[in-house]
Amino acid sequence: MHNIDNVRMLELPELGDEKGNLVIAESGKDIPFEIKRVFYIYGSDPHVVRGCHANKVSEFVLINVAGSSKVKVLDGEGNEIIYSLNRPKTGIYLPSMVWKEMYDFSSDSVLLVLASTHYDENEYVRDLEEYKKLVREC
Ligand code: TYD
Repeated sequence: MHNIDNVRMLELPELGDEKGNLVIAESGKDIPFEIKRVFYIYGSDPHVVRGCHANKVSEFVLINVAGSSKVKVLDGEGNEIIYSLNRPKTGIYLPSMVWKEMYDFSSDSVLLVLASTHYDENEYVRDLEEYKKLVREC
């Protein structure tokens, strides 16, 4: 089983009534890890490519709470999958050790990221060739 096989879309519970919508993301229930960090990305032009890294430890869930973007996931062995994020209640789960690139941001895109770790630059692999080498060594 490659880590890329564990990438999946998550449908979060949504409560809606005449007052509007409310989406829930609970650690260990809707989100398959304990959430240690939250950050969000907005104001990226459509031609910008973000990410371009793998994480040795961190797992993530990405949710476009507004607007849309695309996420390309690579496994370093020639397989890649492209996901579209365009609904506030739909996220993508990214396990550790997958290469990810986020792009095609709409002008109103707000990409919410839930992470399983506190930030540690040492667990980021930012060079694709180094990532492929690490995958081969696994
Ligand atoms: P980076 O991971 O390169 O962003 P992206 O993958 O979206 O292009 O992060 C950009 C900068 O922000 C980089 O200098 C690291 C810093 N950063 C933190 O300090 N803490 C964090 O939680 C994150 C995600 C980034």
